[in-house]
Amino acid sequence: MQANKVYLASDHGGFKGKEIALKYCKERGFDCVDLGCNSPEISVDYPDFANALAAHLENDKGAKGILVCGSGIGISIAANRHKHIRCALCHDENTAMLSRLHNDANVLAFSGRFSDEKMIIAMLRAFFDTQFEGGRHQRRIDKL
Ligand code: RB5
Repeated sequence: MQANKVYLASDHGGFKGKEIALKYCKERGFDCVDLGCNSPEISVDYPDFANALAAHLENDKGAKGILVCGSGIGISIAANRHKHIRCALCHDENTAMLSRLHNDANVLAFSGRFSDEKMIIAMLRAFFDTQFEGGRHQRRIDKL
């Protein structure tokens, strides 16, 4: 269990967003593991990358994940098929903050096509800097 560890993955549509996230996470001093993909030009299938990230988180429960595809939708759906994943598809700083505060999300997903660098960094900062509130929110999570 490593609280300082971040796994990142994307499909081709999310590649550029993943690269921005990777740079930010490295600058923050996180231990980063880039699970691909490695190019925006080669078409790949987002479930393969969501599943790879989920497999790593299963053995590394304290770690967090970042997933990016074109819209963020497909890759978040795929990730949430895994019971140990609470993947939040976020669009801005507020949704990223609430994903931690209320949902104890362990994976942040966002759109690579509709998020600019400023938005991505704002979401990452909120995701990493917000602690889970617990209490009534834990009860709700227990019912998932
Ligand atoms: C790939 O073209 C695109 O469908 C994918 O990145 C994502 O947006 C799916 O939800």
